[in-house]
Amino acid sequence: MYATVPAARHMGWYDWFANGYDAALDRTYREHRQQARAALQLEPGMTVVDVGCGTGASFDVLVPGVGETGHVVGIDASAGMLRRAARRVRRHGWKQVELLSAEAAAGFDAVRQPIDRVLCFLSLSVIDDWQDPFQHWFEALAPGGRFVVADVHNPRPNLHGRLVEVIAQASLSREVWKPLEEQSRAFRLEWQPSSWTLGGRFFVAVGEK
Ligand SMILES: C[S@@+](CC[C@H](N)C(=O)[O-])C[C@H]1O[C@@H](n2cnc3c(N)ncnc32)[C@H](O)[C@@H]1O
Repeated sequence: MYATVPAARHMGWYDWFANGYDAALDRTYREHRQQARAALQLEPGMTVVDVGCGTGASFDVLVPGVGETGHVVGIDASAGMLRRAARRVRRHGWKQVELLSAEAAAGFDAVRQPIDRVLCFLSLSVIDDWQDPFQHWFEALAPGGRFVVADVHNPRPNLHGRLVEVIAQASLSREVWKPLEEQSRAFRLEWQPSSWTLGGRFFVAVGEK
C-alpha cells in the first residue's frame, strides 16, 4: 500500500503542517472536493492519480467514485503528509488506495495502466516547476481520460493573499490551468466566488485528452 519511488526528500514545512492540515482545512474545502469529483466523472473500476495528495483529503471523494474494483494512487513528496494519508487509508480500510512517496513528476512506472483520471487539487500552485508534473501526468493519461486541476488563483495577492501564500508555500498568481487549456481536446473552467479565507478564487478546470 505504501511504496517509495524514489525516496522522497524531506519537506520541512509540509512535514510539520501535516499535523494541523486536516483540522485547519477540511471544512473549507469539503464542497470544493465534491466539485472536483463531479468534474472527474469517475466510474467504478477506474484508476485515478492524485498528484500532491497530501493527507489524502480527496480520497474521501475519489474512493467511492472508483469503487472496490478501482484504484486511487496518491503521490506526495512529504513524508509527514503521507503518514497522515496512510493513517486515513488504514482507518477506512481502503484496499484500493496506493501511496507513492515520490516527486510529483515521477512514479509513472509504479502506477497501474491505463490511467483514466488525474487530479491536482491545491498542488500545482505549490509544487516548484509545476509544468513538469503537469506534462508528465498529462502524457501518462489515457486517451479520452480526464485531467482536473482544482486550485486557488489570485492575479495580485493582497496582504491576506500573501499570508495564504506563506502558510501554504504557494504561488496564487500562477495560471496553473493554462497548459491544460492549451492541450485538451475539450476544456472547461469554472470559477467560484472569491473568498477571504482562501486568499483568492477557487476554480475547477477540467480537460479531456
Ligand atoms: C496544499 S497541499 C495539497 C494537498 C492535497 N492535494 C489537498 O487537497 O489537501 C500541497 C501538497 O503538495 C505536496 N508537494 C509539494 N511539492 C511537491 C513535489 N515536488 N512533489 C510531490 N508533492 C509535492 C506537498 O507535500 C503537499 O502535500
